[in-house]
Amino acid sequence: MLEEADRYIAENASKTDPMYRGEYHFTPPIGWINDPNGFTYFQGEYHIFYQYNPYGSTNAAPMFWGHAKSKDLIRWTHLPVALAPDRSYDADGCWSGSAIVVGERLYLFYTGNYDRDGVRVQTQNMAYSDDGIHFTKYENNPVIGPEQLPEGTSAADFRDPYVWEQDGKYYMLIGTMETGAAKVQLYESDDLFGWRYKSDFLRSEEAGYCWECPNYVDLGETELFAFSAVDFPAGDYTFHNYNSSVYALGGFDRESGTMKAGPFLEMDAGLDFYAEQILDRGEQKIMTAWMNMWGRSYVTSQLGHGWSGSLILPRLLSVKDGTLLQKPVPAIAEYYKNEVRIEDRLSGTKEYEGVSGSAVHLKVTADVSASDVFSVSVFCADGVHTDITYDKTKGTISFDRSKSGIAVSYDRRERSKARVRSMPYAPENDTLVLEIFLDRSSVEVFFGEGELTMTSLSYNPVGADGIRFSSVGETALVIEKQDIIVG
Ligand code: FRU
Repeated sequence: MLEEADRYIAENASKTDPMYRGEYHFTPPIGWINDPNGFTYFQGEYHIFYQYNPYGSTNAAPMFWGHAKSKDLIRWTHLPVALAPDRSYDADGCWSGSAIVVGERLYLFYTGNYDRDGVRVQTQNMAYSDDGIHFTKYENNPVIGPEQLPEGTSAADFRDPYVWEQDGKYYMLIGTMETGAAKVQLYESDDLFGWRYKSDFLRSEEAGYCWECPNYVDLGETELFAFSAVDFPAGDYTFHNYNSSVYALGGFDRESGTMKAGPFLEMDAGLDFYAEQILDRGEQKIMTAWMNMWGRSYVTSQLGHGWSGSLILPRLLSVKDGTLLQKPVPAIAEYYKNEVRIEDRLSGTKEYEGVSGSAVHLKVTADVSASDVFSVSVFCADGVHTDITYDKTKGTISFDRSKSGIAVSYDRRERSKARVRSMPYAPENDTLVLEIFLDRSSVEVFFGEGELTMTSLSYNPVGADGIRFSSVGETALVIEKQDIIVG
Protein backbone atom coordinates (compact mmCIF):
# COMPACT_ATOMS: atom_id res chain seq x y z
CA MET A 1 0.00 0.00 0.00
CA LEU A 2 2.84 2.38 0.81
CA GLU A 3 4.65 1.80 -2.47
CA GLU A 4 1.44 2.13 -4.42
CA ALA A 5 0.70 5.45 -2.71
CA ASP A 6 4.21 6.78 -3.40
CA ARG A 7 3.95 5.76 -7.06
CA TYR A 8 0.57 7.45 -7.39
CA ILE A 9 1.92 10.64 -5.80
CA ALA A 10 5.00 10.72 -8.03
CA GLU A 11 2.93 10.20 -11.16
CA ASN A 12 0.15 12.66 -10.37
CA ALA A 13 1.47 15.47 -8.15
CA SER A 14 2.34 17.68 -11.14
CA LYS A 15 -1.32 17.65 -12.18
CA THR A 16 -2.47 19.62 -9.13
CA ASP A 17 -3.36 23.29 -9.55
CA PRO A 18 -1.04 25.50 -7.46
CA MET A 19 -3.21 28.65 -7.60
CA TYR A 20 -4.08 28.64 -3.88
CA ARG A 21 -1.02 26.78 -2.60
CA GLY A 22 0.96 28.69 -0.02
CA GLU A 23 4.46 29.84 -0.90
CA TYR A 24 5.80 29.18 2.60
CA HIS A 25 3.10 27.09 4.27
CA PHE A 26 3.28 23.33 4.19
CA THR A 27 0.87 21.73 1.69
CA PRO A 28 0.67 18.11 0.46
CA PRO A 29 2.10 17.15 -2.94
CA ILE A 30 -1.38 15.94 -3.91
CA GLY A 31 -4.52 14.86 -2.05
CA TRP A 32 -6.09 15.73 1.26
CA ILE A 33 -4.45 16.55 4.58
CA ASN A 34 -5.84 17.35 7.99
CA ASP A 35 -4.05 17.14 11.36
CA PRO A 36 -0.29 17.40 11.73
CA ASN A 37 1.05 14.27 13.47
CA GLY A 38 4.33 13.08 14.97
CA PHE A 39 5.95 16.53 14.99
CA THR A 40 9.51 15.83 16.09
CA TYR A 41 13.22 16.53 15.72
CA PHE A 42 15.28 13.53 14.66
CA GLN A 43 18.89 13.25 13.46
CA GLY A 44 19.28 17.00 13.00
CA GLU A 45 16.02 17.71 11.18
CA TYR A 46 12.40 18.47 11.92
CA HIS A 47 9.90 15.84 10.83
CA ILE A 48 6.23 16.36 10.32
CA PHE A 49 3.68 13.66 9.57
CA TYR A 50 0.08 14.35 8.69
CA GLN A 51 -3.33 12.80 8.20
CA TYR A 52 -3.30 11.99 4.55
CA ASN A 53 -5.49 10.73 1.73
CA PRO A 54 -3.17 10.75 -1.28
CA TYR A 55 -5.88 9.55 -3.66
CA GLY A 56 -8.43 12.34 -3.39
CA SER A 57 -8.86 15.83 -2.06
CA THR A 58 -11.45 14.85 0.56
CA ASN A 59 -11.17 12.76 3.72
CA ALA A 60 -13.54 10.08 2.45
CA ALA A 61 -10.91 7.33 2.63
CA PRO A 62 -8.87 5.59 5.33
CA MET A 63 -6.06 7.88 6.42
CA PHE A 64 -2.37 7.32 5.76
CA TRP A 65 0.43 9.24 7.49
CA GLY A 66 2.16 11.53 4.99
CA HIS A 67 5.68 12.64 5.90
CA ALA A 68 8.09 15.52 5.29
CA LYS A 69 11.24 16.94 6.86
CA SER A 70 12.84 20.35 7.18
CA LYS A 71 15.94 21.96 8.59
CA ASP A 72 14.22 25.23 9.44
CA LEU A 73 10.45 24.54 9.62
CA ILE A 74 9.84 26.65 6.48
CA ARG A 75 11.32 24.77 3.54
CA TRP A 76 10.00 21.19 3.57
CA THR A 77 11.10 18.10 1.65
CA HIS A 78 8.43 15.49 1.00
CA LEU A 79 9.36 11.95 2.05
CA PRO A 80 7.75 8.58 1.28
CA VAL A 81 4.39 7.98 2.97
CA ALA A 82 5.15 6.65 6.45
CA LEU A 83 2.10 4.61 7.47
CA ALA A 84 -0.65 2.94 5.46
CA PRO A 85 -3.93 1.53 6.83
CA ASP A 86 -2.83 -2.03 6.08
CA ARG A 87 -3.52 -3.95 9.32
CA SER A 88 -6.76 -5.25 10.78
CA TYR A 89 -6.48 -2.81 13.69
CA ASP A 90 -6.01 0.28 11.47
CA ALA A 91 -7.87 -0.79 8.33
CA ASP A 92 -10.20 2.22 8.53
CA GLY A 93 -7.40 4.70 9.06
CA CYS A 94 -4.11 5.43 10.78
CA TRP A 95 -5.46 8.35 12.75
CA SER A 96 -3.60 11.09 14.57
CA GLY A 97 -0.80 10.69 17.07
CA SER A 98 2.65 11.83 18.11
CA ALA A 99 6.33 10.89 18.03
CA ILE A 100 9.09 10.39 20.56
CA VAL A 101 12.81 9.85 20.00
CA VAL A 102 14.53 7.43 22.39
CA GLY A 103 18.19 6.71 21.75
CA GLU A 104 18.68 6.43 17.99
CA ARG A 105 15.12 5.33 17.31
CA LEU A 106 12.05 7.32 16.26
CA TYR A 107 8.77 5.97 17.63
CA LEU A 108 5.35 6.92 16.31
CA PHE A 109 2.19 6.42 18.34
CA TYR A 110 -1.07 6.60 16.45
CA THR A 111 -4.70 5.60 16.64
CA GLY A 112 -5.85 2.56 14.71
CA ASN A 113 -9.39 3.09 13.52
CA TYR A 114 -11.47 0.10 12.51
CA ASP A 115 -14.98 -1.15 12.24
CA ARG A 116 -15.85 -4.26 14.20
CA ASP A 117 -19.23 -5.62 13.05
CA GLY A 118 -20.43 -2.11 12.24
CA VAL A 119 -19.13 -0.63 15.50
CA ARG A 120 -16.14 1.72 15.44
CA VAL A 121 -13.21 0.76 17.69
CA GLN A 122 -10.10 2.87 18.24
CA THR A 123 -6.85 1.52 19.66
CA GLN A 124 -3.37 2.96 20.22
CA ASN A 125 -0.50 1.59 18.16
CA MET A 126 3.20 2.02 17.65
CA ALA A 127 5.60 2.05 14.71
CA TYR A 128 9.34 2.70 14.80
CA SER A 129 12.20 3.66 12.52
CA ASP A 130 15.97 3.92 12.71
CA ASP A 131 16.45 5.90 9.49
CA GLY A 132 13.51 8.29 9.94
CA ILE A 133 12.00 7.19 6.61
CA HIS A 134 10.92 3.55 6.79
CA PHE A 135 8.63 2.52 9.63
CA THR A 136 7.88 -0.90 11.08
CA LYS A 137 4.61 -1.44 12.88
CA TYR A 138 5.17 -3.11 16.25
CA GLU A 139 4.23 -6.80 16.07
CA ASN A 140 2.23 -6.76 19.28
CA ASN A 141 0.02 -3.81 18.36
CA PRO A 142 -2.27 -2.48 19.72
CA VAL A 143 -0.31 -1.24 22.72
CA ILE A 144 -3.57 0.03 24.25
CA GLY A 145 -6.87 -1.62 23.38
CA PRO A 146 -10.49 -1.32 24.54
CA GLU A 147 -9.81 -3.64 27.52
CA GLN A 148 -7.66 -0.88 29.01
CA LEU A 149 -10.54 1.59 29.07
CA PRO A 150 -12.20 2.42 32.35
CA GLU A 151 -15.90 1.58 32.64
CA GLY A 152 -18.13 3.92 30.62
CA THR A 153 -15.39 5.38 28.40
CA SER A 154 -16.03 5.37 24.66
CA ALA A 155 -14.02 2.87 22.60
CA ALA A 156 -15.32 4.57 19.44
CA ASP A 157 -13.85 7.96 20.39
CA PHE A 158 -10.53 7.11 21.95
CA ARG A 159 -7.73 8.66 20.01
CA ASP A 160 -4.72 10.84 19.24
CA PRO A 161 -2.02 9.63 21.68
CA TYR A 162 0.43 12.32 22.81
CA VAL A 163 3.56 10.79 24.33
CA TRP A 164 6.32 12.39 26.35
CA GLU A 165 9.02 11.43 28.82
CA GLN A 166 9.59 12.96 32.25
CA ASP A 167 12.19 11.72 34.72
CA GLY A 168 12.57 8.35 33.06
CA LYS A 169 8.87 7.59 32.82
CA TYR A 170 6.70 7.76 29.71
CA TYR A 171 3.28 9.36 29.70
CA MET A 172 0.53 9.22 27.12
CA LEU A 173 -2.56 11.41 26.86
CA ILE A 174 -5.53 10.16 24.86
CA GLY A 175 -8.64 12.14 23.94
CA THR A 176 -12.01 10.53 24.61
CA MET A 177 -15.48 10.94 26.12
CA GLU A 178 -18.12 9.25 28.25
CA THR A 179 -21.84 9.95 28.42
CA GLY A 180 -22.17 13.63 29.33
CA ALA A 181 -18.46 14.42 29.60
CA ALA A 182 -15.41 14.99 27.42
CA LYS A 183 -12.03 13.97 28.81
CA VAL A 184 -8.41 13.10 28.31
CA GLN A 185 -6.97 9.98 29.89
CA LEU A 186 -3.46 9.41 31.12
CA TYR A 187 -1.47 6.19 30.64
CA GLU A 188 2.02 5.45 31.97
CA SER A 189 4.84 3.22 30.79
CA ASP A 190 8.40 2.31 31.75
CA ASP A 191 9.45 1.10 28.29
CA LEU A 192 7.01 2.52 25.68
CA PHE A 193 5.67 -1.00 25.00
CA GLY A 194 3.55 -1.80 28.05
CA TRP A 195 1.07 0.89 29.15
CA ARG A 196 -1.00 1.17 32.34
CA TYR A 197 -4.14 3.25 32.72
CA LYS A 198 -3.45 5.87 35.38
CA SER A 199 -6.26 8.42 35.56
CA ASP A 200 -8.56 10.92 33.95
CA PHE A 201 -5.99 13.67 33.33
CA LEU A 202 -8.76 16.22 32.88
CA ARG A 203 -12.49 15.84 32.42
CA SER A 204 -15.35 18.27 31.98
CA GLU A 205 -19.10 18.12 31.60
CA GLU A 206 -19.19 21.65 30.22
CA ALA A 207 -16.50 21.74 27.58
CA GLY A 208 -17.83 19.98 24.51
CA TYR A 209 -18.78 16.51 23.56
CA CYS A 210 -15.43 14.92 22.77
CA TRP A 211 -11.79 15.99 23.09
CA GLU A 212 -9.21 15.22 20.42
CA CYS A 213 -5.50 15.81 19.87
CA PRO A 214 -4.28 16.47 23.45
CA ASN A 215 -0.87 18.10 24.09
CA TYR A 216 1.08 18.78 27.24
CA VAL A 217 4.24 20.89 27.66
CA ASP A 218 6.03 22.44 30.58
CA LEU A 219 6.57 26.13 29.77
CA GLY A 220 8.63 26.79 32.89
CA GLU A 221 6.57 29.46 34.63
CA THR A 222 3.52 27.27 34.08
CA GLU A 223 2.44 24.14 32.23
CA LEU A 224 0.23 24.01 29.18
CA PHE A 225 -2.49 21.55 28.29
CA ALA A 226 -3.95 22.02 24.82
CA PHE A 227 -6.61 20.02 23.00
CA SER A 228 -9.16 20.20 20.23
CA ALA A 229 -12.80 20.04 21.24
CA VAL A 230 -15.89 19.09 19.30
CA ASP A 231 -18.87 21.33 20.16
CA PHE A 232 -17.11 23.48 22.75
CA PRO A 233 -19.78 25.91 24.07
CA ALA A 234 -19.54 29.33 22.43
CA GLY A 235 -19.14 32.54 24.44
CA ASP A 236 -20.07 36.03 23.21
CA TYR A 237 -16.84 36.14 21.23
CA THR A 238 -14.99 32.90 21.87
CA PHE A 239 -15.26 29.38 20.46
CA HIS A 240 -17.50 30.32 17.54
CA ASN A 241 -16.30 27.50 15.31
CA TYR A 242 -18.06 24.20 15.93
CA ASN A 243 -14.64 22.62 16.49
CA SER A 244 -12.30 24.65 18.66
CA SER A 245 -8.69 24.64 19.73
CA VAL A 246 -8.57 25.02 23.48
CA TYR A 247 -5.84 25.38 26.11
CA ALA A 248 -5.50 25.80 29.82
CA LEU A 249 -2.48 26.76 31.93
CA GLY A 250 -1.80 25.01 35.19
CA GLY A 251 0.18 22.14 36.63
CA PHE A 252 0.37 18.38 36.12
CA ASP A 253 0.35 16.48 39.40
CA ARG A 254 2.15 13.24 38.66
CA GLU A 255 1.03 11.55 41.88
CA SER A 256 -2.65 11.78 41.07
CA GLY A 257 -2.13 11.92 37.30
CA THR A 258 -4.33 14.98 36.96
CA MET A 259 -3.97 18.44 35.52
CA LYS A 260 -4.89 21.33 37.79
CA ALA A 261 -6.05 23.63 35.07
CA GLY A 262 -7.04 27.29 34.93
CA PRO A 263 -9.84 28.51 32.66
CA PHE A 264 -10.26 27.15 29.14
CA LEU A 265 -9.06 29.67 26.55
CA GLU A 266 -9.13 29.62 22.76
CA MET A 267 -5.76 28.92 21.12
CA ASP A 268 -6.51 30.94 17.99
CA ALA A 269 -9.47 33.22 17.37
CA GLY A 270 -9.62 32.81 13.58
CA LEU A 271 -11.82 30.65 11.39
CA ASP A 272 -9.33 28.00 10.30
CA PHE A 273 -7.11 26.60 13.02
CA TYR A 274 -7.48 23.11 14.46
CA ALA A 275 -5.72 20.02 15.81
CA GLU A 276 -2.52 21.75 16.90
CA GLN A 277 0.50 19.72 17.87
CA ILE A 278 3.28 21.00 20.10
CA LEU A 279 6.89 19.87 19.86
CA ASP A 280 8.92 20.22 23.06
CA ARG A 281 12.53 21.02 22.13
CA GLY A 282 13.71 22.07 25.56
CA GLU A 283 13.98 25.85 25.37
CA GLN A 284 11.74 25.95 22.32
CA LYS A 285 8.11 24.84 22.32
CA ILE A 286 7.00 24.83 18.71
CA MET A 287 3.39 24.58 17.62
CA THR A 288 1.93 23.57 14.29
CA ALA A 289 -1.74 23.03 13.38
CA TRP A 290 -4.09 22.24 10.54
CA MET A 291 -4.94 25.53 8.84
CA ASN A 292 -8.51 24.55 8.09
CA MET A 293 -11.65 23.46 9.91
CA TRP A 294 -14.11 20.57 9.91
CA GLY A 295 -17.62 21.11 8.62
CA ARG A 296 -16.70 23.60 5.89
CA SER A 297 -16.68 23.45 2.13
CA TYR A 298 -13.11 22.75 0.97
CA VAL A 299 -12.51 25.21 -1.84
CA THR A 300 -9.49 23.71 -3.61
CA SER A 301 -11.16 20.34 -3.55
CA GLN A 302 -14.41 21.73 -4.99
CA LEU A 303 -12.50 23.56 -7.69
CA GLY A 304 -10.78 20.33 -8.70
CA HIS A 305 -7.29 21.53 -7.80
CA GLY A 306 -6.33 18.05 -6.67
CA TRP A 307 -5.23 18.96 -3.15
CA SER A 308 -6.69 20.32 0.08
CA GLY A 309 -5.27 21.45 3.40
CA SER A 310 -2.18 23.11 4.78
CA LEU A 311 -0.41 23.66 8.08
CA ILE A 312 0.09 26.98 9.86
CA LEU A 313 3.38 28.82 9.91
CA PRO A 314 4.98 27.11 12.95
CA ARG A 315 4.89 29.22 16.12
CA LEU A 316 7.00 29.48 19.25
CA LEU A 317 5.07 29.36 22.49
CA SER A 318 6.07 31.10 25.69
CA VAL A 319 4.42 32.54 28.78
CA LYS A 320 4.77 36.06 30.11
CA ASP A 321 3.07 37.18 33.31
CA GLY A 322 0.62 34.30 33.06
CA THR A 323 -0.31 34.97 29.42
CA LEU A 324 0.45 32.56 26.59
CA LEU A 325 2.33 34.22 23.73
CA GLN A 326 2.59 32.87 20.18
CA LYS A 327 5.24 34.10 17.77
CA PRO A 328 6.11 33.04 14.22
CA VAL A 329 9.31 30.96 14.14
CA PRO A 330 12.23 33.37 13.55
CA ALA A 331 13.48 31.35 10.52
CA ILE A 332 10.71 32.87 8.39
CA ALA A 333 12.65 36.17 8.38
CA GLU A 334 15.40 34.47 6.32
CA TYR A 335 12.96 34.48 3.42
CA TYR A 336 11.97 38.16 3.55
CA LYS A 337 12.78 40.05 0.34
CA ASN A 338 12.11 43.53 -1.08
CA GLU A 339 11.55 45.48 2.10
CA VAL A 340 9.36 48.58 1.93
CA ARG A 341 8.93 50.95 4.88
CA ILE A 342 6.27 53.67 5.00
CA GLU A 343 5.47 56.25 7.66
CA ASP A 344 2.29 58.25 7.38
CA ARG A 345 -0.47 60.01 9.24
CA LEU A 346 -3.55 58.48 7.70
CA SER A 347 -7.14 59.75 7.57
CA GLY A 348 -9.48 58.03 5.13
CA THR A 349 -8.39 55.19 2.85
CA LYS A 350 -5.08 54.73 1.09
CA GLU A 351 -2.86 52.25 -0.72
CA TYR A 352 0.91 52.72 -0.67
CA GLU A 353 3.35 52.17 -3.49
CA GLY A 354 5.18 48.86 -3.08
CA VAL A 355 2.81 47.61 -0.37
CA SER A 356 0.92 44.80 -2.08
CA GLY A 357 1.23 41.08 -2.69
CA SER A 358 -0.25 37.74 -1.75
CA ALA A 359 2.80 36.12 -0.12
CA VAL A 360 3.99 38.81 2.24
CA HIS A 361 4.87 39.70 5.78
CA LEU A 362 3.36 42.96 6.92
CA LYS A 363 4.14 44.62 10.21
CA VAL A 364 1.89 47.53 11.06
CA THR A 365 2.43 49.75 14.08
CA ALA A 366 -0.53 52.08 14.43
CA ASP A 367 -0.93 54.84 16.98
CA VAL A 368 -4.70 54.95 17.30
CA SER A 369 -4.91 57.56 20.05
CA ALA A 370 -6.62 59.98 17.62
CA SER A 371 -8.66 57.50 15.60
CA ASP A 372 -11.78 55.42 16.28
CA VAL A 373 -11.50 52.71 13.67
CA PHE A 374 -8.43 51.44 11.85
CA SER A 375 -8.43 48.70 9.17
CA VAL A 376 -6.00 46.81 7.04
CA SER A 377 -7.65 45.21 4.00
CA VAL A 378 -5.78 42.47 2.21
CA PHE A 379 -6.38 40.41 -0.93
CA CYS A 380 -8.06 43.48 -2.47
CA ALA A 381 -9.34 43.73 -6.05
CA ASP A 382 -12.52 45.17 -7.54
CA GLY A 383 -15.24 44.55 -4.98
CA VAL A 384 -13.12 41.96 -3.15
CA HIS A 385 -11.37 42.44 0.17
CA THR A 386 -10.62 40.73 3.49
CA ASP A 387 -10.47 43.04 6.49
CA ILE A 388 -8.66 43.18 9.81
CA THR A 389 -10.19 45.96 11.88
CA TYR A 390 -9.59 47.52 15.25
CA ASP A 391 -12.69 49.36 16.47
CA LYS A 392 -11.90 51.45 19.52
CA THR A 393 -15.55 52.41 20.00
CA LYS A 394 -16.41 48.72 20.50
CA GLY A 395 -13.07 47.69 22.01
CA THR A 396 -12.69 44.85 19.51
CA ILE A 397 -10.53 43.58 16.74
CA SER A 398 -12.08 41.53 13.95
CA PHE A 399 -11.29 39.44 10.94
CA ASP A 400 -13.87 39.59 8.16
CA ARG A 401 -13.81 37.56 4.96
CA SER A 402 -17.44 38.15 3.99
CA LYS A 403 -16.25 40.10 0.91
CA SER A 404 -13.67 37.56 -0.21
CA GLY A 405 -13.90 36.04 -3.68
CA ILE A 406 -15.36 32.66 -2.75
CA ALA A 407 -17.75 32.07 0.14
CA VAL A 408 -16.98 29.03 2.28
CA SER A 409 -20.01 27.14 3.55
CA TYR A 410 -20.16 26.08 7.16
CA ASP A 411 -21.62 23.77 9.74
CA ARG A 412 -25.04 25.14 10.74
CA ARG A 413 -24.06 24.96 14.43
CA GLU A 414 -21.32 27.56 13.92
CA ARG A 415 -21.84 30.99 15.45
CA SER A 416 -19.74 33.03 13.04
CA LYS A 417 -21.06 31.47 9.85
CA ALA A 418 -17.44 31.03 8.77
CA ARG A 419 -17.16 34.72 7.87
CA VAL A 420 -16.34 37.04 10.76
CA ARG A 421 -14.60 36.59 14.09
CA SER A 422 -14.18 39.37 16.64
CA MET A 423 -12.45 39.52 20.00
CA PRO A 424 -12.32 42.16 22.73
CA TYR A 425 -8.95 43.88 22.47
CA ALA A 426 -7.31 46.99 23.88
CA PRO A 427 -3.81 47.72 22.57
CA GLU A 428 -1.33 48.95 25.14
CA ASN A 429 -0.83 52.75 25.10
CA ASP A 430 -3.19 52.99 22.09
CA THR A 431 -0.49 51.45 19.94
CA LEU A 432 -1.78 48.61 17.83
CA VAL A 433 0.91 46.22 16.61
CA LEU A 434 -0.12 43.75 13.91
CA GLU A 435 2.01 41.16 12.22
CA ILE A 436 0.20 39.75 9.22
CA PHE A 437 1.32 36.80 7.12
CA LEU A 438 -0.47 36.46 3.78
CA ASP A 439 0.09 33.37 1.70
CA ARG A 440 -2.05 33.10 -1.46
CA SER A 441 -5.16 31.90 0.37
CA SER A 442 -4.37 32.37 4.05
CA VAL A 443 -4.11 35.19 6.58
CA GLU A 444 -2.41 34.76 9.95
CA VAL A 445 -2.53 37.76 12.26
CA PHE A 446 -0.45 38.13 15.44
CA PHE A 447 -1.57 40.93 17.74
CA GLY A 448 0.78 42.75 20.10
CA GLU A 449 3.35 40.33 21.46
CA GLY A 450 1.32 37.36 20.27
CA GLU A 451 -1.23 37.34 23.08
CA LEU A 452 -3.93 36.94 20.44
CA THR A 453 -3.78 35.34 17.01
CA MET A 454 -6.31 34.91 14.21
CA THR A 455 -5.76 32.37 11.46
CA SER A 456 -8.12 32.07 8.51
CA LEU A 457 -8.34 31.19 4.85
CA SER A 458 -9.55 33.59 2.18
CA TYR A 459 -9.98 32.62 -1.47
CA ASN A 460 -9.79 35.36 -4.06
CA PRO A 461 -9.39 35.89 -7.80
CA VAL A 462 -5.96 35.92 -9.42
CA GLY A 463 -4.41 39.36 -8.98
CA ALA A 464 -6.30 40.21 -5.77
CA ASP A 465 -3.11 41.38 -4.10
CA GLY A 466 -3.96 44.95 -3.12
CA ILE A 467 -3.41 46.04 0.49
CA ARG A 468 -5.43 49.01 1.75
CA PHE A 469 -5.34 50.99 4.96
CA SER A 470 -8.28 52.95 6.38
CA SER A 471 -8.66 55.21 9.37
CA VAL A 472 -11.64 57.01 10.89
CA GLY A 473 -9.83 59.90 12.56
CA GLU A 474 -6.07 60.13 12.20
CA THR A 475 -3.80 57.11 12.68
CA ALA A 476 -0.03 57.54 12.86
CA LEU A 477 1.29 54.56 10.93
CA VAL A 478 4.51 52.68 10.37
CA ILE A 479 4.23 49.93 7.76
CA GLU A 480 6.99 47.43 7.12
CA LYS A 481 6.38 44.99 4.33
CA GLN A 482 8.49 42.23 2.79
CA ASP A 483 7.70 39.63 0.15
CA ILE A 484 8.23 36.08 1.34
CA ILE A 485 9.96 34.01 -1.29
CA VAL A 486 10.96 30.42 -0.58
CA GLY A 487 11.39 29.39 -4.22
C1 FRU B 1 -8.96 15.80 14.45
C2 FRU B 1 -9.28 14.35 14.11
C3 FRU B 1 -8.58 13.42 15.08
C4 FRU B 1 -8.47 12.16 14.30
C5 FRU B 1 -8.21 12.66 12.92
C6 FRU B 1 -8.75 11.78 11.82
O1 FRU B 1 -9.06 16.66 13.38
O2 FRU B 1 -10.68 14.16 14.13
O3 FRU B 1 -9.26 13.28 16.31
O4 FRU B 1 -7.47 11.30 14.78
O5 FRU B 1 -8.78 13.95 12.84
O6 FRU B 1 -8.26 12.17 10.57
